Amino acid sequence: MFTIKAQGFEPFQVEEGTKLALALEKNGVDVSHRCGGQAKCTTCRVAIQGEDPAMGETERLSLEEDGVLGQFRLSCQIRVDRDMELEVLMRASDKGWDPGAELEP
Ligand code: FES
Repeated sequence: MFTIKAQGFEPFQVEEGTKLALALEKNGVDVSHRCGGQAKCTTCRVAIQGEDPAMGETERLSLEEDGVLGQFRLSCQIRVDRDMELEVLMRASDKGWDPGAELEP
């Protein structure tokens, strides 16, 4: 189990390998995920403090295409493999929209 500390929320525990966006949502953090975790919308963006988890090709290509590589990470493309402290950069409640399409585990 790993501990996730999302700024402004109580820390919570997550099983290794859990999709970060799903872990956030299941623990009351209203992270946006408009495309349902397809690495297309970039609304699930988070700023991770400390060492970033490894980045897969799908996430890299999406961020490069939008010219935002290095600015934030996509929580729908990250599998939890460590304790993390992060900030959710697009919360659904801040934007006034529903979080988005359902996330696959
Ligand atoms: S990029 Fe759309 S939910 Fe992550």
